[in-house]
Amino acid sequence: MTTEPAVAAVDLAPMDGILQRLRGREGTLIPVLQQTQELYGYLPPEALHLISARLGLAASKVYGVATFYSQFFLDPRGRHILRLCDGTACHVKGTQALIAAVGGEFNVAPGKTSDDGELTLEIVYCVGSCALAPIAVLDGRVMGGMGESLLLGRLAECVAPG
Ligand code: FES
Repeated sequence: MTTEPAVAAVDLAPMDGILQRLRGREGTLIPVLQQTQELYGYLPPEALHLISARLGLAASKVYGVATFYSQFFLDPRGRHILRLCDGTACHVKGTQALIAAVGGEFNVAPGKTSDDGELTLEIVYCVGSCALAPIAVLDGRVMGGMGESLLLGRLAECVAPG
């Protein structure tokens, strides 16, 4: 028998509504994960264990789905999300230099969030704007023709230095 976690680092009470609304429906797991991520901004381990217990699914199944789809995040994300494109067109136009510049300025590695929670740096592979390479997407805003100083300047307008 699966048990619910005794001590939660996050408030799991709002999960009741999600689980009650979706319980018993076909293909429940992904909508539950989506709504849980909307709630917390990521998928906390306590929430994944609760989902496993309430839906009667093995924890390995829940984690398997959560890690398979790129839409799900297992770690807290930053207040700002920077995506740098490293597809072929952007790569040859200098994405690696952009990654190094952002990493040096904000102390953040690709796929990670800065310690102060300000900035998450993600690498993506072609966002369909190759003619404007290299591309950066900051909080959903697509910016083309990026150079290191231009990108750092844009970041300085909204992100506190790490
Ligand atoms: S390779 Fe970067 S937008 Fe296509």
